[in-house]
Amino acid sequence: MALPAARPGHAVRVVRVAPPPRVGAANLRLANTRLLPGDVPSREPGCENFSRRKQSMTTEFPLLGEHAYVAYIQKLDSMGANSTTHIAEVRYPVQAAPVLSVVKFLDPNCLAASNEAIAWLFLRAAGFVAPRHAAILALSAKKARDVVGKKAFDESLVTQDCVIAWASQKLDFKSIRAYFAGTRADAEWIGLLRTLHGAQIAAFDEVFLNADRNTGNVLYSGRDSCIPIDHEQIFDHQDWIGGNIMASTRDSDSLRVIKRAYDGGALSLGAYNDIKNKMVHHAQQHESALAACKDQISKLIAKVFKDGSATFEERILSFAAERTAEHWMETRLGVV
Ligand SMILES: Nc1ncnc2c1ncn2[C@@H]1O[C@H](COP(=O)(O)OP(=O)(O)O)[C@@H](O)[C@H]1O
Ligand SMILES: [Mg+2]
Repeated sequence: MALPAARPGHAVRVVRVAPPPRVGAANLRLANTRLLPGDVPSREPGCENFSRRKQSMTTEFPLLGEHAYVAYIQKLDSMGANSTTHIAEVRYPVQAAPVLSVVKFLDPNCLAASNEAIAWLFLRAAGFVAPRHAAILALSAKKARDVVGKKAFDESLVTQDCVIAWASQKLDFKSIRAYFAGTRADAEWIGLLRTLHGAQIAAFDEVFLNADRNTGNVLYSGRDSCIPIDHEQIFDHQDWIGGNIMASTRDSDSLRVIKRAYDGGALSLGAYNDIKNKMVHHAQQHESALAACKDQISKLIAKVFKDGSATFEERILSFAAERTAEHWMETRLGVV
């Protein structure tokens, strides 16, 4: 993964240093940063009924210090693009016991990590099946080097002696790419896009202009069910720290795959229209999903960025509001 250098002036607000780290980490008191709230474990048990879910939709997205990184477990069986991705135990605020998680180090400018968190908040609000626990972590550079190995470690990940990571609960499913060899994976993805779950992902990708939906970024959970992961590249790679998110007529990766399958004969006109209708159906939830999570997105951005958070928040939420508005998807897809 290419990692641009950190932008001065947009350092993250990191990180709570008390209580003492559980894993012998260096303290992360960074210049010109505010402290993040820590992960005080609550008693919320792990179930997903409506009232708990509602409660969780008002909880702030966790930004955690090194004390939350309990232990490195092992490498991933099937790596994606990021060579730092690994399995570790992470302690999340709502879960007293450590949770087996997939952890990856990201650009210290926090753009990709914020994109992951924004997507995770929206997916949960829209009722997707998604990893139940997720967090942005700030680890000491020493800890990050120890985890990846000094030789393999990319020093451009470090800013102010700190490394930013994305952690999400490890689900017991492999990606489509890991599950099916070669071109079979592409065919399976097209098959899944015809299902309700697949079309739900395609609708999400279109709204957030996800430019990185490939078969490594969809977990295969059954013949007609799948789970989206890896949302670093929503907003079409656009850098909302540097400027507005431009309205784009480009299709998301999912819609491109759908159109290509139709053009190439892998999807009939009926199947093509059916996917678009399913996407429109799911899009009816988008406005209320955004309303349910937008305060959490605002708080997340305010906690992560020292300067400019109001501007970033406006860029993100105005883009999302336009594309989650009623009938936006019909217009986008030309469904009458
Ligand atoms: N929450 C998760 N549960 C199970 N497997 C995951 C999870 N997140 C990632 N993975 C696995 O790790 C791989 C790499 O993760 P991903 O987020 O796609 O990072 P990247 O592609 O940037 O390396 C995925 O292809 C998938 O196999
Ligand atoms: Mg990936």
